Amino acid sequence: MKPSLRPGFPLLLGLLCAAASASCSRFHIPPHDQVARVARYVVHQCDWASMATISTHQPVAGQPFSNAFSISDGPEQSSSGVPYLYLTRMEISVQDLQVNPAASLSMSLAQTDYCRKQQFDPQSPLCAHVILSGTVIDVNGTEEAAFAKKALFNRHPEMIDWPSDHNWFFAKFNITQVWVLDYFGGVKTVTPEEYFQASPHRKHH
Ligand SMILES: *[C@@H]1O[C@H](CO)[C@@H](O)[C@H](O)[C@H]1NC(C)=O
Ligand SMILES: *[C@@H]1O[C@H](CO)[C@@H](O)[C@H](O)[C@H]1NC(C)=O
Repeated sequence: MKPSLRPGFPLLLGLLCAAASASCSRFHIPPHDQVARVARYVVHQCDWASMATISTHQPVAGQPFSNAFSISDGPEQSSSGVPYLYLTRMEISVQDLQVNPAASLSMSLAQTDYCRKQQFDPQSPLCAHVILSGTVIDVNGTEEAAFAKKALFNRHPEMIDWPSDHNWFFAKFNITQVWVLDYFGGVKTVTPEEYFQASPHRKHH
């Protein structure tokens, strides 16, 4: 351990990355064939997601309805894989979920600067993106709410000041299927078991 070297380290890495351009990124995405790890990585990197519900609102009742939500699966470097949400029943999509909790979450590295830096179009499978199928479950008042609060308030500090008369509650996205686009050859699927066993971070040598 040489503490004196530590402050210079991020700067040095930054310079090396600038020099190596496209092959280097501060984002260490797992290899594309480790599909479950890529899925965990994308979910951890993204702090918001598009969530589709089955609408209960006219004139689109019964049709898909996609809306943006702040999410977090844990503080930086502390990924659980579970997307947590902070919701209010006043919100239009949450009203859909009260009738039918089935939903789909979509997250993409196009939401980070990775794809732009690599010059990958958001629709390119190289710009890794995931679609989660499942249901949204209220975890307010359960043991899991403490982690949900830590996960969300760490990455969305302004949530602390959201108006209390909106009756916010913590919820989680209960994943039943993971769909991954991270390379050519079509969509790949990952079971929840494979997904939760995978590590989103590059292993240290
Ligand atoms: C969620 O739980 C918190 C803490 O237990 C509570 O203050 C709040 O009223 C709950 N929200 C709802 C909508 O029930
Ligand atoms: C949550 O997801 C698991 C699969 O990971 C599934 O077996 C279970 O039925 C789901 N629970 C609910 C309440 O949807």
